[in-house]
Amino acid sequence: MKVLVIGGTGNISRRIVTALLKRNHQVTIFNRGQHPDSPPAEVRVILGDRKQRDDFEQKMKAETFDTVIDMISFNTEDAASAIRAFEGRIQHFIQCSTVMTYGPPFPRNGINVTEADSLNGSSAYGLGKIAADNLLLKSYRENDFPTTILKPSYTYGSGINVHRQVGGDGSWIDRLRKGKPILSAGDGLNLFQFLSSHDAGEGFAEVIGRTECLGQIYNIVHPQPRTWNQWHQAVAEAIGVEAEIVSVAQETLVAIAPERFKGLAGNFGHTQVFDGQKLAQVIPEFQPKTPLVESLAENVEWMDQRNLIPNSDEDRLEDMIIATVRKLQNQI
Ligand SMILES: NC(=O)c1ccc[n+]([C@@H]2O[C@H](COP(=O)([O-])OP(=O)(O)OC[C@H]3O[C@@H](n4cnc5c(N)ncnc54)[C@H](OP(=O)(O)O)[C@@H]3O)[C@@H](O)[C@H]2O)c1
Repeated sequence: MKVLVIGGTGNISRRIVTALLKRNHQVTIFNRGQHPDSPPAEVRVILGDRKQRDDFEQKMKAETFDTVIDMISFNTEDAASAIRAFEGRIQHFIQCSTVMTYGPPFPRNGINVTEADSLNGSSAYGLGKIAADNLLLKSYRENDFPTTILKPSYTYGSGINVHRQVGGDGSWIDRLRKGKPILSAGDGLNLFQFLSSHDAGEGFAEVIGRTECLGQIYNIVHPQPRTWNQWHQAVAEAIGVEAEIVSVAQETLVAIAPERFKGLAGNFGHTQVFDGQKLAQVIPEFQPKTPLVESLAENVEWMDQRNLIPNSDEDRLEDMIIATVRKLQNQI
């Protein structure tokens, strides 16, 4: 099949490309050529910026594809442009959406959220995705635009920093390496779903060409949720240390440094478990099996190669919070 991936060199999209090539698809990617990680040699690259609507649509109309996977569609303008570019000319269009369309706050208190649950994107990101997804589904209903919406949960891999509960900057890896304690928000027992980009790539590649998936929305998640404590320990194991975790109430952290810990008030401060049964029923082949610790080691190595692990000694806030909490505990 001739498959176009819009994006193609990023965290998830490069693994989609790998999975497509493994299945002998003919792969083209469209991006600006700015990403530091280059694509495999057998991939055809069309350079351009999808935000330059006329140029993007003209370039796409000059091509023929069976399937398009859109990895960088974030709002109605992106979706409308994709519809103009591909309407009547492809068999399958896969939109990469996100579980952030459900919340926060999440339905069912974030336990086993299904595709039928209400949408409640409270961030600009979530709201933009909802609007893009809705336009594509409307276009499917009214004009047969052959849409499938996939909603990955948090997806780690070479292409982004390994996130932790209290933030996304890479210095926590340096803290672990230096034997420093790390913060968790609350008891660290909130559940989260961590999907490897390798597994996400396999899932996207399995969906293409499945006519039963047209007009459908699927969560694409790891079936086994983990606590943040388990995640932090797995990352520590990947770099060969044990994590010393210090709990501080989430509200306290946000009150101390609202900007720094803003992720806790949004995405990362809630239990989030999404039901992956709908996708598993239609595509039993999708079985996330990438080994956690090894793939985290690969992710950390990627961060090292790109100097994305800052010196934690240059940032004293975490040490100050931990020292204060310990002092208070000792005094009491
Ligand atoms: N990671 C997660 O936890 C997660 C979870 C749920 C959903 N998602 C979704 O996953 C998607 C991101 O996929 P990814 O991980 O492959 O992305 P990524 O790592 O952010 O990489 C972005 C890709 O898109 C290209 N690109 C960016 N802006 C572009 C533009 N204006 N025109 C053309 N190409 C452009 C980049 O190449 P150039 O820079 O060279 O153009 C690169 O290939 C998003 O839709 C996001 O909402 C991610």
